[in-house]
Amino acid sequence: MKPIIEVRNVKKCYGKEQGLECETEVLKGISLQIERGSFVSIMGPSGSGKTTLLDIMGALLRPTSGEVLIDGVKLSSLDDNGLARIRGKKIGFVFQQYNLIASLTATENVELPMRIMGMGKENARRRAVSLLRSVGLGHRLENRPSQLSGGEQQRVAIARALANEPEIILGDEPTGNLDTKTGESILGILKKLNKNKGYTIVLVTHDPRIAGYSDKVIKIRDGRIISG
Ligand SMILES: Nc1ncnc2c1ncn2[C@@H]1O[C@H](COP(=O)(O)OP(=O)(O)OP(=O)(O)O)[C@@H](O)[C@H]1O
Ligand SMILES: [Mg+2]
Repeated sequence: MKPIIEVRNVKKCYGKEQGLECETEVLKGISLQIERGSFVSIMGPSGSGKTTLLDIMGALLRPTSGEVLIDGVKLSSLDDNGLARIRGKKIGFVFQQYNLIASLTATENVELPMRIMGMGKENARRRAVSLLRSVGLGHRLENRPSQLSGGEQQRVAIARALANEPEIILGDEPTGNLDTKTGESILGILKKLNKNKGYTIVLVTHDPRIAGYSDKVIKIRDGRIISG
């Protein structure tokens, strides 16, 4: 079966877009494959290029050279609208700082990506409530982010990531701001989504415990894969 994500010899230079020579080569030729339904973590020291790599895999950032394929589709063949569609439909993102909209309730935050994709108000609301219940937040539907704990905010962010039924969840240090116990519960939710629902999960992390949840650990250092 073809991998759900394939990265072929990806390089990323910062500076070059402004017409400068490649000032900082942050990724120096990364190739990897993520199998459908797998749980993969990407580890490496600060500054090694993990976030850059994840953003490129998630179609948030274009590589300077090389190719990324999602489900066999070359991202370089898509215009910005095409990339936005892939991001909206195929990929759910979870970040370290949750990135919820402060003025919206938990339910409204989860509804938003569905509304953007054109779903009607009633259906979006129903699905948002059901997703929030599935992450144990049925009692926090009308709370705004400032009225939620870090772990609760991250659970809202997971519910939001699932809104448009993506196949892939990408997480950039999703437990980075959480205490050990709360972090474990977030990982438990992600692991369950992987095992029971077949989501492909790729997490960037410093946290060696995440390795225990993973089928595969990819280690990067200084823009290169050193193992995995
Ligand atoms: N927009 C940018 N312009 C220039 N350099 C950048 C930019 N974004 C990142 N970098 C540099 O690229 C390198 C890799 O950054 P990246 O954020 O991918 O690292 P990371 O492995 O995620 O680190 P951390 O664990 O601290 O989050 C760093 O040296 C960073 O300073
Ligand atoms: Mg990072």
